Amino acid sequence: MSEAVAVAKAHQAPPCTVVILGASGDLAKRKLLPSLYNLRACGRGMLAPDTVILGFARRQIETGEFRAQAREAISHYSRIEIDESCWNDFAGRLDYLGGLDQPGGFHKLKKRLEEAETAHKLPPNRIFYLAIPPQAMSAAVENLSSAGLINPANSANFTRVVIEKPIGHDLKSAVELNRTLHRYLDESQIFRIDHYLGKETVQNMMVLRFANSIFEQMWNNRYIDHVQITVAESEGVGTRAAYYDQAGALRDMMQNHMLQLMTMLSMEPPVSLDAAAVRNSKLDVIRSLRPIPPEQVRSIAVRARYAGGIIDRQSVRGYLEEAGVAEASRTETFVAMKAYIDNWRWSGVPFYLRTGKRLPHRASAIFVQFKDVPTILFNRQGALQPDVLTLRIQPDEGFSFEVLAKEPGFDVAIKPVKMNLSYQSEFTGHSPDAYERLLLDVMTGDHTLFLSGEFVRLSWQLLQPILDAWRDDPAIPMEVYPAGGWGPDGAETLIRNDGRSWRNV
Ligand SMILES: NC(=O)c1ccc[n+]([C@@H]2O[C@H](COP(=O)([O-])OP(=O)(O)OC[C@H]3O[C@@H](n4cnc5c(N)ncnc54)[C@H](OP(=O)(O)O)[C@@H]3O)[C@@H](O)[C@H]2O)c1
Repeated sequence: MSEAVAVAKAHQAPPCTVVILGASGDLAKRKLLPSLYNLRACGRGMLAPDTVILGFARRQIETGEFRAQAREAISHYSRIEIDESCWNDFAGRLDYLGGLDQPGGFHKLKKRLEEAETAHKLPPNRIFYLAIPPQAMSAAVENLSSAGLINPANSANFTRVVIEKPIGHDLKSAVELNRTLHRYLDESQIFRIDHYLGKETVQNMMVLRFANSIFEQMWNNRYIDHVQITVAESEGVGTRAAYYDQAGALRDMMQNHMLQLMTMLSMEPPVSLDAAAVRNSKLDVIRSLRPIPPEQVRSIAVRARYAGGIIDRQSVRGYLEEAGVAEASRTETFVAMKAYIDNWRWSGVPFYLRTGKRLPHRASAIFVQFKDVPTILFNRQGALQPDVLTLRIQPDEGFSFEVLAKEPGFDVAIKPVKMNLSYQSEFTGHSPDAYERLLLDVMTGDHTLFLSGEFVRLSWQLLQPILDAWRDDPAIPMEVYPAGGWGPDGAETLIRNDGRSWRNV
């Protein structure tokens, strides 16, 4: 195999303090602490050795107990096993403070931060990761500011704030959140996370498109018939009903992950790999998405919720029977929609997007289906299978290209064959978790894989007519699909009406 060419080398993070607001929560335990440990893990050293991690939440627990909880979480979720000497070093720089919701809580945070910086001889480079409920975000930023914890963007040392999804609940709240953020922070200090962008396959989309000469020439409406994106989850709502029942699939998956995937796939080549250039290319796509007139919502978007059914030979209950879901809930657990990008490259090419819970298995993939050849030679007597490029995002990350080939023999028999690349079998190194990559980018100040405020606003603006119609028009059906199936009939009709069908993921 040829040597890899290092185009952009990951930088080592500068010394800083990472304050996790919401350090006692699920995200901190499952993703943030394990990712920080992995970045730090001995021998790899992407984290500056003197980095301090300060957990901040409402509950009062001793630092020792926080360390014990962090160790348990890391042993459970980290991709690297705990190494005693590395852990001791990491734990020595892991601190905790309670009272996030108490008067004076943020002033105490400032004092603790300054003490830690003095003790560890750290410059006041600070990252505040908001791993707290969405309704607490604005107040947290206001409190950070009034405690004097936000330095101007042009200061010698940086202050950065990481915002988790959901970034707003609708267009109005997203605009309000942006306004609050901009009151206290410069856009360059804000890192809005969509962890899908930290996944290797999603980043590889740029390499696939712009480092290979064959794809980009065909990447347009002359050669592509349509694109499908499926993000399937087999899990139900689990313990997240309090959040999910207020959100639903359109807000939870479509507004962020699905639109991000669509944008990465369809953007124009950026003028450089700079964050600003990449973000501008993505903004151009979202600006070109065809607006959805209210009267067309019914014909381009389908909503549904799961009923009881069987997954992995286990019987599972329906959404309305799940703990914490309102009896009269009108929340969708599945959405399918059709979108058009009205620009020169994509004019007339439909993008079909679907995502849902309690589908047969967990899988995310993008299918780029190419146009048929003219009906002159091999397909004179009937349609042949189209060429399809599949980008698998999870599991078994990689891509495959399905083309037609002649079956050996005297007859001319044509059969689809697959050229397949699986990252796992092709590359030996471990891929960093999406949160590792994104945390490192926050520390090094690289915005490429983060969302701009304008992108967030435009994505809500696009979907707001669907949210409004679903809320206001009781005639728009809430279909039901059995758990373990591929969604409702309406999703089949949506694509079948165009003479196409969903591909298996
Ligand atoms: N979990 C995930 O996989 C995931 C994925 C993507 C995005 N997110 C987002 O990440 C954020 C945190 O999610 P999570 O699952 O970790 O939530 P969680 O398990 O409920 O934890 C929430 C954390 O925030 C604190 N908290 C709760 N209510 C608060 C309030 N009103 N004001 C200030 N702090 C409060 C809690 O502190 P105490 O425990 O001390 O009360 C806890 O540390 C949410 O915005 C969520 O949407 C989570």
